[in-house]
Amino acid sequence: MPQDLEIRKRCVALLEKNSVKYGDVVYTRPSSGYYNFLWLWDSCFHTLIWSYFDINRALQELEAIFCGQAPGGMLPHMICFDKKKKLHRSPTVGEFKLWNDRGTSNLTQPPVLGFVLWRIYENTKNVKFIERFFDRTVEYYRALKKERDPDRDGLISIIHPWESGWDDSPRWDPVYGIKNPSKEDLAGRKLDLMNEYWATNWNVAKASFNVESADFNSIYLSSLRSLAKIANVLNRKEEEEELLKDAEKTANAIQKLWHKDGYYDIFGREEKRIEKKTPAIFFPMFAGVANKDQADTLINVYRNEFFTKYPLPTIVPSDPTFDPDRYWRGTTWINVNWFVIQSFENYGFHNKAKNIFRKSYELIEKSGFREYYNPLTGKGLGAKDFCWDTLILDLIKRKRS
Ligand code: GLC
Repeated sequence: MPQDLEIRKRCVALLEKNSVKYGDVVYTRPSSGYYNFLWLWDSCFHTLIWSYFDINRALQELEAIFCGQAPGGMLPHMICFDKKKKLHRSPTVGEFKLWNDRGTSNLTQPPVLGFVLWRIYENTKNVKFIERFFDRTVEYYRALKKERDPDRDGLISIIHPWESGWDDSPRWDPVYGIKNPSKEDLAGRKLDLMNEYWATNWNVAKASFNVESADFNSIYLSSLRSLAKIANVLNRKEEEEELLKDAEKTANAIQKLWHKDGYYDIFGREEKRIEKKTPAIFFPMFAGVANKDQADTLINVYRNEFFTKYPLPTIVPSDPTFDPDRYWRGTTWINVNWFVIQSFENYGFHNKAKNIFRKSYELIEKSGFREYYNPLTGKGLGAKDFCWDTLILDLIKRKRS
């Protein structure tokens, strides 16, 4: 369709515009001017979209991600290639120590990498590409298991809202123990956590923020399964077995998040439930772990509670914390839609998936590539020229094929 061609051109132009080079390293900034560092899940999305036009550029993006890999295998949520920057300045948080000596953060982000690698392989059948990244990627998933599952139940814990990728989500209010937090309250909490972790030498098992979330774990699980498929293609039997075993454990553990009508995150040693209805409740459908009854229940929740003119609001409008303009507290995000669309497709809810796709497309046409949008009016908010909105191309490709 001519309209698709046009958006394709705009997406490539955006990826190019936001690309930067530091010596041999090339990566795509989430949005130039505001988000200049490398962010893990953003760059995974960018890698996928680059792979549609320029496999070499996709390769560079992944190599940039791996520049930050810690000796134990962990991938950092942010990398600063400008090594002189010891302190991080954030408009909300002020100045604080984010970077370790390797110029990376000690946090991570939703582990979508394994899934992305498989999708690239499905599209390109490029064995060399997956071969090049397989071992290093498996190391990352091993590190998550080893370092981030202190209770060994198969669910990975996140220790900071930044690790969720949903920084200010009302899901974290009960974890902090605050109601109706202001932007400044939330900024303060995020900073306090960073100070705590530096002071305790990153003793993750004792982290005061410990959440086993439905979305992070579903992304982890689908990546484990994707990597098992890659292991099979590469004839790496041992790894395939290991990955499938880990995947099975996590798939069973995710069921413990089910409660009444959705999958809800749990936190702390007592594993208290966070009863906040956000699109995260659907993510186990992305990983394919919901059974038919659960999927039917979830789709009813979507129909009755999430439907807005421009879905999906990042918390249901009936929740007292819902704010259609506020960062992760009601606003619509294209990457969340990308996950939920695939979740619904996995269970045959094609009309619902198509509708979210169309509305996402419409948002970009109407308001441009924005960081997030008002779910009621479609108004663009946050950073401009925001790169992961190019995920729309992956959706277009899948719709048309
Ligand atoms: C914000 C988002 C996070 C994203 C980052 C860079 O911190 O909450 O998910 O990775 O910006 O775009």
